[in-house]
Amino acid sequence: MRSFVCFGAVLCAATVAIAHDGVMNKSVLTRMETMTEFKEITKTLGRIGSGADEWDPKKVEITMQALTAAAARVVPEFEANERDPKDRAADTIWTSWDDFVSTANGFETTVSEMDVSSAKALAVSVSALGDGCKTCHKAYRVRK
Ligand code: HEC
Repeated sequence: MRSFVCFGAVLCAATVAIAHDGVMNKSVLTRMETMTEFKEITKTLGRIGSGADEWDPKKVEITMQALTAAAARVVPEFEANERDPKDRAADTIWTSWDDFVSTANGFETTVSEMDVSSAKALAVSVSALGDGCKTCHKAYRVRK
């Protein structure tokens, strides 16, 4: 199935692989793309929270929806023990799966509790969000 998908989308897969440093496992790429989306979202919200970008409630709302959706994808995207020589996922994700799930669920709670009612509130919330990223990375992302 995977090779069939790649066969039909060689160019596309190659482009994505370059963006993620030679990763060829499609499931690994998918979860990395979710992480890249987290990074972009955090940057967008951070810029609005700090005042670098103007206050834009509609943009905040849409970005929060994307963040909520991405956070909900973490558990399903990591569930299968898919590996790639270039990935940075710790083995303990799968050997301590229940703990990984509760870390991901805790992150979803952090996201759902973000106060985005003003730029000032957003700045505080983005900082809590960043702590949520770090908590999981510390436990489940290996340094390379
Ligand atoms: C529940 C755990 C968890 C949470 C929460 C989490 N991450 Fe990750 N993140 C990981 C793991 C595990 C990897 C390594 C994945 C791999 O290499 O297969 C990773 C990788 C990444 C990467 C590298 C992606 C790549 O292309 O190699 C970025 C960037 C990233 N995370 C950003 C974030 C940001 C920003 C947040 C918070 C908004 C976040 N992550 C929240 C577990 C998490």
